[in-house]
Amino acid sequence: MGQEGDDITASGDLPDPDDKTLDPLRTFVAGLSRLLACDPVETTLLDAGAGLLAQLVVRDDWLPDAFAAPHPEHYQQYLLHCDPAQRFCVVSFVWGPGQVTPIHDHTVWGLIGMLRGAEDSQPYRLDAQGVPVMAGEPVRLSPGDVEVLSPRRGDIHRVSNAYPDRVSVSIHVYGANIGTVRRSVFTESGERKCFVSGYANASWPNPRGTAPQRTQGA
Ligand SMILES: [Fe+2]
Repeated sequence: MGQEGDDITASGDLPDPDDKTLDPLRTFVAGLSRLLACDPVETTLLDAGAGLLAQLVVRDDWLPDAFAAPHPEHYQQYLLHCDPAQRFCVVSFVWGPGQVTPIHDHTVWGLIGMLRGAEDSQPYRLDAQGVPVMAGEPVRLSPGDVEVLSPRRGDIHRVSNAYPDRVSVSIHVYGANIGTVRRSVFTESGERKCFVSGYANASWPNPRGTAPQRTQGA
């Protein structure tokens, strides 16, 4: 993450905040903020939020390339927006060819919208000994699809890029600043380890609106 005092204007790959390209993200953030302001029960939030996310991922022309760049060795998680009250965040999840997560949980609600390529999500549950066992068939997400996660329903899964030879990108929304949340990964034998994911980026786009141009000396 960026340090206080960083000159983010020096980052050449940041999009222009006046660029209308980010309007779909702005619309989504505004819509989810309005939804949360009504303090809905989780089922209402997830149903309505999934509808909003479906509108965001129905088109693939708004995500800046800087937030869709894969890493050659592991998947990337770029923060696109964090609600000021940390009620939710929006993340682009970028899969290099064939990349896969460990079995993990989330501890907060989540929405996953497929933007580009495809991914497979294999749900798990923990048995009485804490060993993860598959819980149903894997779910294939294709562009435009939205998957819902909730600790109330079971939120343990392993996700993989469905393609061995191309990049896939999904847009994730979580009910917290997910990069700071203490979560768990599980080995096949049931060993549980705490992790905090963080983010791959030190600077992020400005989906909240336009910004005046900096004038010389200001
Ligand atoms: Fe996940």
